[in-house]
Amino acid sequence: MTQSYKIGIIGFGTVGQGIAEILHLKRKSLEETYGFRFQVVGIADPVKGMVYNPEGLDLAKALEAARSGTRLEDLGIGEAGWDSLKLIREGALDILLEITPTNLQTGGPGLTHLREALSRGIHVATTNKGPIALAYPELKALADQHGAILKFEGTVLSGTPVFNLRAYGLPAASIREIRGIVNGTTNYILTQMAQGKSYEEALKEAQAKGYAETDPTADVEGHDALAKAVILANVILGGSLHPDQVPCTGITGITLEDVQTAQQEGKKWKLIARAWVEDGTVKAEVRPQKIGPEDPLYAIDGVMNAVAFETDVLGSVTIVGPGAGSWEAGYALLSDMIEIHRILQTRR
Ligand code: HSE
Repeated sequence: MTQSYKIGIIGFGTVGQGIAEILHLKRKSLEETYGFRFQVVGIADPVKGMVYNPEGLDLAKALEAARSGTRLEDLGIGEAGWDSLKLIREGALDILLEITPTNLQTGGPGLTHLREALSRGIHVATTNKGPIALAYPELKALADQHGAILKFEGTVLSGTPVFNLRAYGLPAASIREIRGIVNGTTNYILTQMAQGKSYEEALKEAQAKGYAETDPTADVEGHDALAKAVILANVILGGSLHPDQVPCTGITGITLEDVQTAQQEGKKWKLIARAWVEDGTVKAEVRPQKIGPEDPLYAIDGVMNAVAFETDVLGSVTIVGPGAGSWEAGYALLSDMIEIHRILQTRR
């Protein structure tokens, strides 16, 4: 059955533009294949601009403006005078795409946006790691209380399926441990160091290629991987961990000599995020580990990410794929929206 959704986008940076491009390109096939029709009625971004049009914004024009540096208000495609909270409170949204930058200390504006939307019964798809790492149990309860659906596939491995893989590819399997290379920047640096580059040179390259967070400390000190380990632990293993409770070591202590010694031993240093159940308690950690070719994560080089599930019925199952990028993370939001649509169809 075809259903039409009014969508609001908060955050129109790299990922916000990525999902807008994908939506624009796939509009026809989404309707034909899934019965998913949509209008993007509002976009709010402090840099790109904030506009609202209840009949739907012209996405091609909005994208063109974002690329050329024209503010959205100056395009004549919608009303000015809107902001993110007004969009949630007064925009008559069915689905909010929350794509503001991650803040792992406070949850940032994203946490406020999610609380505001879910408490109004607005379904949410987000790539923002802060709110999910810091407040998943609260946000899930809020969503359930108000009949809203909360999706966040893009918080771990961007559009490469992790939560959907667990839900639909591994139903009823018991998962006792999850290990992953979940940060592209550090994996890129360690891979480059294995090829003889210095840490500083490799980090500069990762920044230039756009893999690193705005402040790369979050990558190299392991905080980004920590957020993802906590999300995996709490969502998939049912934990209630706070990032402060999880031991975390980044890669800044790994020297070129360490990397080369490992190579001579036929091994590699990798930053491993791990979540597991021990004596009925969910635990997590992030630390560099020296691993050999027998490990499913050994072959994951460069900016590539992977997550390995240890299951009771299948043994180890590993998914490998991109963990960041405009379309890569944008696609996570699309898969979340289709999932929201599917769930809503079953409710009707
Ligand atoms: N800075 C992150 C990474 C981006 O390098 O993987 C995706 O969360």
